Amino acid sequence: MTFKNHNILIVDDEKAILFSLKAALAKEGYRIKTCDTPEEALKTVEPGVFQVIISDYNMPGMNGMELMEKIRQIDKEAVFILMTAYGSEKLAIEAVKAGAYDYFSKPFDIDEMRLIVAKACERFNLAYEKKNLQERLQKEQEENRLIGVSEQMERVKNMISTVAKSDITVLIQGESGTGKELVADAIQRQSLRASGPYVALNCAALPENLIESELFGYEKGAFTGANTTKRGKFELANRGTILLDEIGDMALATQAKVLRVIQEKEVERLGGSKPIKVDVRILAATHKNLKQLIEQGLFREDLFYRINVVNIPVAPLRERKADLKPLIEHFIAIASKKTNKNIKGVSEKAMEILENYDWPGNVRQLQNIIEGAAVFMKDDIIEVSNLPPELRKPQGEEETGERNACSEIIERIKGGEALDAVLSDLEKQVIEAALKANDSNQSKTAEMLGIKRGTLQYKMKNHNL
Ligand SMILES: Nc1ncnc2c1ncn2[C@@H]1O[C@H](COP(=O)(O)OP(=O)(O)OP(=O)(O)O)[C@@H](O)[C@H]1O
Ligand SMILES: [Mg+2]
Repeated sequence: MTFKNHNILIVDDEKAILFSLKAALAKEGYRIKTCDTPEEALKTVEPGVFQVIISDYNMPGMNGMELMEKIRQIDKEAVFILMTAYGSEKLAIEAVKAGAYDYFSKPFDIDEMRLIVAKACERFNLAYEKKNLQERLQKEQEENRLIGVSEQMERVKNMISTVAKSDITVLIQGESGTGKELVADAIQRQSLRASGPYVALNCAALPENLIESELFGYEKGAFTGANTTKRGKFELANRGTILLDEIGDMALATQAKVLRVIQEKEVERLGGSKPIKVDVRILAATHKNLKQLIEQGLFREDLFYRINVVNIPVAPLRERKADLKPLIEHFIAIASKKTNKNIKGVSEKAMEILENYDWPGNVRQLQNIIEGAAVFMKDDIIEVSNLPPELRKPQGEEETGERNACSEIIERIKGGEALDAVLSDLEKQVIEAALKANDSNQSKTAEMLGIKRGTLQYKMKNHNL
């Protein structure tokens, strides 16, 4: 985002100057505020309000340079322009040395003054964008950092730095939510292709025909609806990296075409006749067992050997519990920022539950639980009550509980009830149980169920509770 209508503050003890400057600049679309004493200016300035400040040098009480120094302590970003009396260039140069952006002499030439102000605004925008970009990069790096101190994660990190600098194809395997995408991102960031394009395609998210047009692109008229020529992901990733995410879900026909790209280092757009050279480093990830898919005839063995040059296994979270604490700290830091809360940590009891849980959804599940707890928690410590019910119950019970609930639904449907009616009845039972557990306190019940109080009341009315 850049500023368009900049806020400009003009400070001068001569009212006539304030008036004529304001008139000339307001015409340009700037929003102008004027102050006729430096003291008033200091009261008016707040961090981030003014983008440009124009001040006279000679004023009673405080000169323009002193004012600039004081304003700096309130707002470092505002760009400062000094007005000096005709013939005092030396002073003006000193001001620039002290950090003013520019100066103009009085009486001023309107066009020159406008130009200086326009440039000052541009300077502000540039600095603002740069700062924004730096903050974004830092935030991204912070949030994309691979956290982990376990032996398994150390091994993963070592493998990442070993393979990153080459063009070797890497296959990242692990259960859902273990951080495979993060591993791929880390390889790309540390690679010699880091500044090149990085393109990812989730092969499980799209139907087969769309995957092919996404990967290889198409020529105009290749099929109905192909109104323009489209470049595919392989072409877009030229001189960079492509991540074929969930490659285990790729159809056999597509696998054959991908194998061709790897072997020939060229792609053919759908409906095209000319192969196009591409220079792409391939990373692949999957939560499926490719060897098993090969046995079932669902994955090409030759493609497997091509992509499995290096294999990075990412262990499930339950096998590397040493990572729990640092991951929790990391997600608490992120959640604190998102919710504007100062979350200090996890209570001992809650930690015990987190440590004993077996994390079927791995790190993603942990992240969701911490972020969910952060939204609803009242104190600055995550307590047992902030954890979702499936964690609070002993794990054996949960499974049989689930099975009972499902078999109960199916039995009732077999018995002639409609699915909607059974589900609605189950919702009623859940709400009743939650109300009972919270001594009929509606706010607490709503919080437990993760819904708004209004929603709870609406549902209670529907269920005649
Ligand atoms: N070691 C880690 N450090 C920090 N965050 C992590 C780590 N591992 C996973 N995460 C976070 O967990 C979430 C899931 O990670 P990611 O998307 O990489 O998993 P995945 O293995 O690709 O899962 P899926 O197979 O479901 O696609 C992301 O938000 C990611 O930032
Ligand atoms: Mg993934």
